[in-house]
Amino acid sequence: MQDFVFQNSTKLIFGKDKEQFVGKEAVAYGRKLLLHYGGGSIKSSGLYDRVKESLKDQGIEVFELGGVKPNPRVSLVREGVALCKEHDISFILAVGGGSVIDSAKAIAAGVHYEGDVWDFFDGKAEVTDCLPIGVVLTIPAAGSESSSGTVITNEEGWYKRSAMHPSMRPQFAILNPVLTYTLPAYQTACGITDMMAHILERYFTNEKNVELTDRLCEGALKTIINHAHTVLEEPTNYDARAEIMWAGTIAHNDMLGTGRIGDWASHDIEHEISGIYDIAHGAGLAIVFPAWMKHVYKHDINRFAQFANRVWDVEIDLNNLEKTALAGIRKTEEFFSSIGMPITLKEANIGDEHFSEMAKKGTERGPLGNFVPLDETNVLEIFNLAR
Ligand code: NZQ
Ligand code: ZN
Repeated sequence: MQDFVFQNSTKLIFGKDKEQFVGKEAVAYGRKLLLHYGGGSIKSSGLYDRVKESLKDQGIEVFELGGVKPNPRVSLVREGVALCKEHDISFILAVGGGSVIDSAKAIAAGVHYEGDVWDFFDGKAEVTDCLPIGVVLTIPAAGSESSSGTVITNEEGWYKRSAMHPSMRPQFAILNPVLTYTLPAYQTACGITDMMAHILERYFTNEKNVELTDRLCEGALKTIINHAHTVLEEPTNYDARAEIMWAGTIAHNDMLGTGRIGDWASHDIEHEISGIYDIAHGAGLAIVFPAWMKHVYKHDINRFAQFANRVWDVEIDLNNLEKTALAGIRKTEEFFSSIGMPITLKEANIGDEHFSEMAKKGTERGPLGNFVPLDETNVLEIFNLAR
C-alpha cells in the first residue's frame, strides 16, 4: 500500500427536504452569492424557487447565471468570472449536476486570477485559491460535489480538459435523493455508468496489498449494480435513489483511491469523445471502458479474474483464468447495455472520422493511464475495439 494523505472536507447534508437549509449554510460565506444552474430542470421541478426562498430568508443578495450546458463551456465560465469580479461576489452556489458544479469551480478559480481561466486547463497556470462554493446536487454521477477537480470544454478546438486543486472542493453539498426523481432514465443510467467508472479507474491498479480498498470498491460496485434497475423502473423509489446517490459521492470522494494509484486512461479517452461529439460523459464511458478492458486485461489477469468473481459472481476457473477475466468484461458490457447505454461507438452514431485526431490530441501531453500507460497507437487501438 502507498503512503497517503486523505482529506475531504466537504460537509455532506443528506436526506429529504435538506435543500431548505441551503441559505443557512451559504450565509456563512458572505451575503453576495452567484446562483449557477443549467438549462432549466431546476425551474420545472420547483427547486429553483425553494432555493431562492431559503437564500432570501438569510438576507443573501443573489446574482444569477444559468444556461450551463452538459460538457460545460469555457465561454460561460468567462462570463461568470466577469460577473463575480464586477459585483464582488463572495460565494458560488451550484444547483445541478457535474456540469454546473464544474462550471462553478472554474469560475471560482478564475476570480482570483488575472489571466484567462483556460490557462488552468491547458497547463499554463496552476489554481492556487478559489472562491468558496456550495452545491445542491440534482444528479448522482460525476461526484464533483466533493471532488477537487473540474472538467471544462473549450469551443475553440473542442478541447475538454480538467484542472485540480484542493480549494475547489465544495464547502458543502446537499444531497436529497428526492431531487433525482425527475431525472430521465437515460441521464440516470449515464450517472450510474460514470460512478461505476470512477470506482473502476481506482480498482485497476498495480498496487499490491490493498485489500481493504479492493473490498470497498467491490462493495460499492455491487450496491450500484443491485439498485440500478430499480431506479430505472421505479424512478420514485426513495431507498434505491438514496443508495445510488450516496454511491455517486463515495465513488469519487477519494476514499476508494487511498493507498493505491488509479488508472484514469478511460476518462481521458472519453473526454476526447465528448469534447468533439458532445455526448453524455457516462455514455462515452460505457463505450470506452469495456474496450479499454479488452486492451489491457492480459497485463494482470488475476485482477481481472478477481473483478469478475467478486463483482459479477463469475465462478473462477483456476485452469483458465483468462476465461474468467473475459467473462467479467462481458458482464460489464452486458450490464451497461441493459441499463440503456451504448457500448459501441456505432450505437452512439460515432464513426471513425476523428479516431486519429482524438488519439493524437489525447496523448499530446504524454501517455495516458497508470495501470498500462497508453501511447497514441494504443489509444487508436482502443477506438478500434470500441467501433
Ligand atoms: O441543465 P439541466 O436542465 O439542469 O439538465 C441536466 C442536463 O441536461 C439534467 N438534469 C440534471 N439533474 C436533473 C436533470 N434533469 C431532470 N431532473 C434532474 N434532477 O441532466 C443533464 C446532465 O447534467 P450534467 O450536469 O451534465 O450531468 P453529470 O452530473 O453527469 O455531469 C457531467 C459532467 O461532469 C464531468 C463530465 O466530464 C461532464 O462534463 N465530470 C466531472 C468530474 C469532476 N468534476 O470531478 C469527474 C467526472 O469524471 C466527469 O468527467
Ligand atoms: Zn467520470
